[in-house]
Amino acid sequence: MLNAVVPWPFPADGALTHVRDTALPQIERGEAWDWTLRLKEEPERIIGRIGLYLGQNNRGFWMGLPWQGRGLMTEAVIAVTDYWFEVLSFPVLRAPKAVENVGSRRISEKTGMRVVETKDGEYVSGILPTEVWEITAEEWRAWRAVNPVVTK
Ligand SMILES: CC(C)(COP(=O)(O)OP(=O)(O)OC[C@H]1O[C@@H](n2cnc3c(N)ncnc32)[C@H](O)[C@@H]1OP(=O)(O)O)[C@@H](O)C(=O)NCCC(=O)NCCS
Repeated sequence: MLNAVVPWPFPADGALTHVRDTALPQIERGEAWDWTLRLKEEPERIIGRIGLYLGQNNRGFWMGLPWQGRGLMTEAVIAVTDYWFEVLSFPVLRAPKAVENVGSRRISEKTGMRVVETKDGEYVSGILPTEVWEITAEEWRAWRAVNPVVTK
């Protein structure tokens, strides 16, 4: 259920070429803002990634399998969504995701987003029904006012 832009099977140099040829140039052009995710007790090890992007898909993320299901991506999503609205000052954030991507949808649902469109999307696993989730700056601030999250 990763976006079809991700090459699959993932090549041995896939991370290097993606960061060097796509992610860093996008960041330099001011079209993307990207973070690696690391545990405080093991800061050298990258366990996941989250990014914000101009265009139709404003936020993307993945978490390594051993670290899934601990609430870590929810924590990261809240931090970078604050950044999208409060530092970058965009009026709205939209994120398409496969309907069957339960974990990703749950994160959107838990953080005050709503579905504004359904369509097909292209993923590594093929064409899948997709929902576009959205939240406005005003809605985000209202949600944050009653969800003063403290990071672990
Ligand atoms: C989606 C993904 C980032 C979630 O990361 P995570 O760190 O496991 O997320 P969290 O622990 O914060 O969990 C978020 C919620 O989803 C639920 N959830 C997570 N994975 C789930 C699964 N496979 N099935 C059902 N629920 C799931 C959690 O229980 C939690 O809900 P809750 O608070 O009500 O219990 C992770 O599964 C992943 O990297 N998937 C592969 C890449 C991907 O799909 N990226 C998103 C593309 S749109």
